[in-house]
Amino acid sequence: MPAAAESFWNRRYREGGDGWELGQPAPPLSRFLRSHPQAPQAPGRVLVPGCGRGHEAALLETLGFQAIGLDLSEVALSEARRLHGEARTSLQWLQADLFDRKALEAAGLMAGSIKGIVEHTCFCAIDPGQRHDYIATVCRLLAPGGWLLALFWCHSRPGGPPWGSDPELVEAQLRQGGLVAEIWQPATGSVDSRHDEWLGLWRQPG
Ligand SMILES: C[S@@+](CC[C@H](N)C(=O)[O-])C[C@H]1O[C@@H](n2cnc3c(N)ncnc32)[C@H](O)[C@@H]1O
Repeated sequence: MPAAAESFWNRRYREGGDGWELGQPAPPLSRFLRSHPQAPQAPGRVLVPGCGRGHEAALLETLGFQAIGLDLSEVALSEARRLHGEARTSLQWLQADLFDRKALEAAGLMAGSIKGIVEHTCFCAIDPGQRHDYIATVCRLLAPGGWLLALFWCHSRPGGPPWGSDPELVEAQLRQGGLVAEIWQPATGSVDSRHDEWLGLWRQPG
């Protein structure tokens, strides 16, 4: 576990520097999962990388998936447990670095073992230099036919986190990683401060 990154995120949670916190699953993701005709259907194991306080993981459990909330930060996961309960078969919490393949495999997250991944503000939290690794990790974990449902924060402000993204570049990076876009469009229903989110549903070829 990279200690500097872990303590950076722990400190952000402890000291109230968590301006990303919505107190609920991101509304565009929630609405999509609950009512969109192309929404992935339960059951299946779904990973939420950088799950923070676990709102999307808990939503996935409610929808019948076996959800795994993964985060580097023990403080985030202790908050997730407080809000959504201790680990159980349908909802697990895993403290690990998304890029630590050995730690993921020790927790049962082998290549091709995951049906779906839900991305919300993890991609914008990692250094842009790690985006290639992020996409490689997603592609490795997804089973054939598996899906990535993602809300990308496509702002163009300098610096980060949250680091911005360019929709065309994200699309090209995911395509080069081997994923196929089923949906890639400006999100609707975002909170006011995030009018520049894009929602995507991407599929690992079967
Ligand atoms: C901006 S916060 C978003 C949290 C949550 N997704 C939300 O929207 O409320 C980014 C989260 O990613 C986690 N994170 C950052 N780098 C990570 C990594 N390499 N592996 C796992 N989690 C990471 C942080 O600890 C933090 O909880």
